[in-house]
Amino acid sequence: EWSKLYLAHHWPVTVCKDCQDPPEYWTIHGLWPDKGEECNRTWHFNVTEIKDLMSDMRRYWPDVIHSSLNRTQFWKHEWEKHGTCAATLPILNSQKKYFSKTLELYQLVNLGFLLKAGIKPGSTTYYQMAAIKEVLTEFYGITPKIQCLPPEEGEEAQTLGCIEFSFTKELELRTCTEPKEELSVCNDTLPVYYPSQVK
Ligand SMILES: *[C@@H]1O[C@H](CO)[C@@H](O)[C@H](O)[C@H]1NC(C)=O
Ligand SMILES: *[C@@H]1O[C@H](CO)[C@@H](O)[C@H](O)[C@H]1NC(C)=O
Ligand SMILES: *[C@@H]1O[C@H](CO)[C@@H](O)[C@H](O)[C@H]1NC(C)=O
Ligand SMILES: *[C@@H]1O[C@H](CO)[C@@H](O)[C@H](O)[C@H]1NC(C)=O
Repeated sequence: EWSKLYLAHHWPVTVCKDCQDPPEYWTIHGLWPDKGEECNRTWHFNVTEIKDLMSDMRRYWPDVIHSSLNRTQFWKHEWEKHGTCAATLPILNSQKKYFSKTLELYQLVNLGFLLKAGIKPGSTTYYQMAAIKEVLTEFYGITPKIQCLPPEEGEEAQTLGCIEFSFTKELELRTCTEPKEELSVCNDTLPVYYPSQVK
C-alpha cells in the first residue's frame, strides 16, 4: 500500500536522447505512487478514454525521452506501471481521472514561475543549488526534490534534469524526503547548469 505520490517534471533539453526541438518548458514525466508497480496487469491502457485530454497531453506530457516511440506508448507505460497502482485512490481510479488529475496538479505547481524568479535556462549560466532551492522553497513552502545529471568527465557542473513534488493521498504538497531512481539528487556543492539547448 502506497502512502504518497510523486509528481515528476523533467527538463526536456536535459533528458532528451534523440529528440528534436524539445519544448522549452518543464513537462510531466509522471505521477508515481511511492510503492508498487504494475498493480493491475489486466487493466490495459486505452487512449480513447483520454481523448478529451489530448491537446493538454500532447503539450504537457510529451515523450521527450524517446522520440522514436510514439507518445501513446509513453502514456501506456505510465498508466500500466504507475497509474494502475495510483488507482486505489477513488479520485484516481480511472484512466481519465489519473491523467486529468496529473495535468491539474502540474498546472497547480506550475514551474513556469522559475523564469519570473530569475532562474532561466541558458548556455552559459550556472546556478548555485542554494539559490535554486531557496526560490523553490520560498514559493511552495515545501522543498521539492531536485535531480541532476552528474558532471561529465572533466567537467565541474551538473545539469538540472528533474524536479519532483510529493503529495499526500489528500493531494496536499509535502516536502520530498526519499531519493528515487534515474537521475541523482543534485549535489549541493556543485554549480548547476540549466541548459537551453541540447548538447
Ligand atoms: C483490474 O482491472 C480490471 C479491468 O479494469 C478490473 O476489472 C479489476 O477489478 C481490477 N482488479 C483490481 C484488483 O483492482
Ligand atoms: C476503450 O474506451 C472506449 C471509451 O471508453 C470504449 O468504448 C472501448 O470499448 C474501449 N476499448 C477497449 C479495447 O476496451
Ligand atoms: C503507438 O503505440 C500504441 C501502443 O503501443 C499502438 O497501439 C499504436 O499502434 C502505435 N501507433 C503508431 C502510429 O505507431
Ligand atoms: C559533491 O561534490 C563534491 C565535489 O566534487 C564531492 O567532494 C562530494 O563527494 C559530492 N557529494 C556527493 C554527495 O556526491
